[in-house]
Amino acid sequence: MESKGKYYITTPIYYPSSNLHIGHTYCTVMADAMARFKRLSGYDVHFLTGTDEHGLKIQQIAEKEGVTPQEYVDRIVAGVKDLWKTMEISYDDFIRTTEERHVSRVQQIFNKMNEKGDIYKSEYEGWYCTPCESFWTESQLVDGCCPDCGRKVEKAHEEAYFFRLSKYQDRILDLFENNPDFLKPDTRRHEMIEFVKQGLEDLCISRSTFDWGIQVPIDPKHVIYVWLDALTNYITALGYPDDPEEFNHYWPADVHLVGKEIVRFHSIIWPAMLMSLDVPLPKQVLGHGWLLIDGGKMSKSKGNVVDPVVLINRYGIDALKYFLLREYTFGQDGVFTNEVMLKRMNFDLANDLGNLVSRTAAMIEKYCGGIVPPATTEDDIDRELKTLAVGVAPKVEADMNRFAFNNALENIWTLVRRANKYIDEKTPWILAKDEARKAELDTCMHNLAESLRIIAILIYPYMHTTTEKINEQMGITGEILWENAMTFDLLDGNRVNRGEPIFPRLDIEKELKELDDLRKAAAPEPENIPLELKPTIEFDDFAKLDLRVGEIISAEKHPKADKLLVFQVKMGTETRQIISGVAKDYKPEEMVGKKMVVVANLKPRMLRGLESHGMFLFAQDGERTQPVETTAASGSAVE
Ligand code: MSP
Repeated sequence: MESKGKYYITTPIYYPSSNLHIGHTYCTVMADAMARFKRLSGYDVHFLTGTDEHGLKIQQIAEKEGVTPQEYVDRIVAGVKDLWKTMEISYDDFIRTTEERHVSRVQQIFNKMNEKGDIYKSEYEGWYCTPCESFWTESQLVDGCCPDCGRKVEKAHEEAYFFRLSKYQDRILDLFENNPDFLKPDTRRHEMIEFVKQGLEDLCISRSTFDWGIQVPIDPKHVIYVWLDALTNYITALGYPDDPEEFNHYWPADVHLVGKEIVRFHSIIWPAMLMSLDVPLPKQVLGHGWLLIDGGKMSKSKGNVVDPVVLINRYGIDALKYFLLREYTFGQDGVFTNEVMLKRMNFDLANDLGNLVSRTAAMIEKYCGGIVPPATTEDDIDRELKTLAVGVAPKVEADMNRFAFNNALENIWTLVRRANKYIDEKTPWILAKDEARKAELDTCMHNLAESLRIIAILIYPYMHTTTEKINEQMGITGEILWENAMTFDLLDGNRVNRGEPIFPRLDIEKELKELDDLRKAAAPEPENIPLELKPTIEFDDFAKLDLRVGEIISAEKHPKADKLLVFQVKMGTETRQIISGVAKDYKPEEMVGKKMVVVANLKPRMLRGLESHGMFLFAQDGERTQPVETTAASGSAVE
C-alpha cells in the first residue's frame, strides 16, 4: 500500500516513582489504538513512549528504599515495559531519560538555547512543591499551598539557570489564537490563553540542591530541572540535534497526547523551547481527562489504585482496552467502577459481538456444511445490512480524526447490533425448513459472514486479538486491509471453524466480589500504619493557635482571582473578612451558613488586593476539599 505520509504520536513519559495504574494505562491504550489505526490506514507511524526518571522525588524514594536512584528506576521501568508487553502496546521506541542518547542530546539542547541568549544565571527565590517538582510564585499559591496538589510549599532560594520564557509570550499567544487546532479540547485552549495573558515568567531550568539529573554542561554544580529534561524526550528520541535524518523524517509530531494537568507544560513551555531552538512546533497537543475512583484521584494511600494486570488476567487485554476506549469521552474526566466495566464487557462483548460470532459460525456449520456460501438473492433487509456495513469505516475514520474513540466503537457496534437483529428478522431456522428458500438462507449466511469480516477489520486498531479470533472462526486469512472494510462480497467458499465463545459471559455479582477480595489482598486495609507527619511540636506551640468557630454570613467571588472566595465571617461579636482558595470546589452560595473552624489569630495578609484575616480549616479529601464544620456557637473556642 502506498504510504499516506508519516504520523508521529507520543504519550507522556511516565514517572517511574511507583508501578503504573489504570490511569496511565488509559493514555497509552488511546495512543496505541491511534497508532494502530493510522498504520492500518496506510501511514508510516512512529509511536513513542518512555519514562521520566530524574528529579528530587525519585532520589528521595530511592534513598528511602536504600538503593541508588538508578537501581530504583531500573526496577520500576522493567515493570513498565512488562506491562506494555503484556498489553501488546505497539510502540516503536521507548525512551528513558537516563539513557546516554537522551542525556547527551539534552546537554546539546541546553548549549543551543544558551548560545541563542535564552538562558541566564540568576538567583531563584520562590516556593517549591517537592511532590509536584514545581516552583510557584507567591501569587500562584492558594492559601499558601501548592495550587496543583494543595500541599505545603517551601521557600527556595538559590542560584539557578533560567530560560527566557517571557520572551516568547507573544508568539505563544499568537500560536493559540491563529491555530485553534494546536490545543484541544477548546476548554483547555481557553484556559491556556488566560494563563499566558496573565504574563509568563521566566522558567527555572536548573537545580543545585540535589544531583539526580542531567548535568548542566556549562556548570557541573547544577542539574537540569525536570521539565527541560522531560519535554525534550520527544525530539532526542528522534536523534535531535545530531542525527537529522530520522529527526527530519518524523518531526514535527502529529500529536502529543497528554493528561489535562500537564497541558500547560506541553502547550506553552514546550513550544517556547522549540521556538528557541528554531525547531518547528508539534502539530497538536491533546489533553485528556482523568479516570477517577469514588470521585477522586487514585492513590496508594487510599488503597484504591486499580491494577490493570489484575483485570487483564481475568478478562483479557481486548476486553479491558475495549472498555477504556468505549466508556470514556476524550477530554473529560470519567469515573472508573468495576460494575460499569463488567456490564460493558457482558453487554457489548459477550452478548453483542460474542453471540454474533457464535451464532454465525454455528449456523454456517449447521446449514451450509461449514462453507460460506455465495449470495444469489437480495431483498431490502439484505441491502440495508450491506449498505450499513460498508459505510461504517468512513464514519470510524472521521471519529478517529477527532480522537473520539467512544464514537468510533459505537459506530462499529451499530453494525454488530444490526447484524444480530438481521438474524432475528431473517429467521434462518425457518428458512432452513423450506428447501425452496435455500438461496435466501445462503444469502443470509453469506451476509453475516461478510459483516463479521468487516467488523473484524474495523475493530483491529482496538482489539487485534479479537480480530484474529473472528478471522480464525470465519476461515479468513490474508492481510488485514482497511479498504476491505468498505467492500462487501469478498468471501466465497471459506471454511468456518467454530470455536470457543470469544467473550464468555461474566457473573457480575461473583466478579464484583472477587475483584474486591483481590483488591483487599493486594492493598490490605491500612491498619494502624503511622501517617507521614510533619515534625512533632510542643504543647506550647499548639497553645499559640487560637481556633474559633466562625459562621459564614456572606460569600462572593474574589474580583481578581478565579481560585479565591471572599467570606464575611461572624465570630461572636466580631465580623471579619477571610479569603480562601476553594472557588474550584464550592460556589459562594454553598458556603453561606456554614459554621467552620477558623485559625483566628493568624496575622492578616493581603490576597490579590483584599485583606484576609484568619484561615478556615479544610480537610484535603481527594478531589474536593471538605470544610471542617461544627454546630457550636460562633465565636466559641476550639481546643
Ligand atoms: N513525567 C511527567 C510527564 C512528562 S511528559 C514530557 C508526568 N508523569 S506522570 O507519570 O505523573 O503522569 C503521566 C501521565 O499519566 C499524565 O498525562 C497524567 O495525566 C496521566 N495520568 C496519571 N493518572 C491518571 C488518571 N487517574 N487518569 C488518567 N490519566 C492520568 O506527569
